[in-house]
Amino acid sequence: MKQKIIVTGGCGYIGSHTVVELITHNFEVVILDDLSNSNIKTLDRIAKITGIRPIFEQLDLKNSEQTKAVFQKHKDTAAVVHFAAYKAVAESVQNPVMYYKNNFFSLLNTLEAQLEQGINNFIFSSSATVYGEPKKLPITEENQVQRPFSPYGNTKKIAEEILEDMVKAHQDFSTISLRYFNPIGAHLSGNLGELPNGIPNNLMPYITQTAAGIRKELQVFGNDYDTKDGTAIRDYIHVVDLADAHVKTVKRLLNKKQEKSLEIFNLGTGNGYTVLEVIQSFEKITKKPLNYKIVSRRAGDVPALYASTELAKEKLNWETQLNIDDMVASSWKWEENLKNEKN
Ligand code: WQD
Repeated sequence: MKQKIIVTGGCGYIGSHTVVELITHNFEVVILDDLSNSNIKTLDRIAKITGIRPIFEQLDLKNSEQTKAVFQKHKDTAAVVHFAAYKAVAESVQNPVMYYKNNFFSLLNTLEAQLEQGINNFIFSSSATVYGEPKKLPITEENQVQRPFSPYGNTKKIAEEILEDMVKAHQDFSTISLRYFNPIGAHLSGNLGELPNGIPNNLMPYITQTAAGIRKELQVFGNDYDTKDGTAIRDYIHVVDLADAHVKTVKRLLNKKQEKSLEIFNLGTGNGYTVLEVIQSFEKITKKPLNYKIVSRRAGDVPALYASTELAKEKLNWETQLNIDDMVASSWKWEENLKNEKN
């Protein structure tokens, strides 16, 4: 019998790619999503890639009763992968209450409902933002956690603290928190990818939308950082590699391989690229010049962030397979597919 996995936020960007990999690895998936920042069509896209349509429950995880009812219905679940959250940094600065309310109510209701059903495995979608401006590079899991600049980032930091308390209080509860660096790219088929709502905040969707003519020009935020070309460095990771790490994490929990009841892993490639290097890769792959201009730094940006990947390699037996050109090429393929769908 297939093992059942609940994926909250499974219609979102990273969630949907993880659902594809879970299905491919023979898990039965139940998606819980309120579709507030995602699209029901994602289920068709997943079905097109995998041949299987995941079970879908539309609900608001901020609603405790609804959440409990869904977990009661799927009490034969082996593990929960929790993606459901708001994630726009600037929006969280403008509206902290909305962010704290959404990200914590949904987290707490999920934890409460799963405990009630005796579902004791939980994977949390965290972020490298919890390291703030790092004092040491590459960033290992031992790097000091700092209060993130944004309320969004702070929801990730506090959520990890909640998980620390959970494992102390509940002996059977096991959890793994995955700290993502900069996920970009799309499914290699071009049939699944990121669907940013409105004007994108992140670099990659901004690049592809500019090249597609949806945006006039890309603004490069600062070229006066102490880096090789002056633009900021990030550890971009292909979303398909990231999804694969989640499957390995689920298996680690289900096979009772974890060494501590709360484990934390960085998920990055270990390679840092500057903004201009990403643009160069894009121009090389698409053979299209990108319209961009250098502007001043964006508030809250740090000069350089990249991961040490040793721990994930050793404990999860996971390494990234796809490089920056694969990330850029798949993002562009997805953007072009979206354009064709609209026409
Ligand atoms: C990357 C680089 C920008 C847009 C954020 C969150 C993080 C995580 C991922 C998400 C930076 C530069 C960007 C643009 C640019 N969480 N840039 N022009 O800021 O590293 O991380 O997204 O859920 O928590 O903070 O990613 O893609 O916004 O920026 O020059 O129009 O590209 O300054 O150096 P970031 P990003």
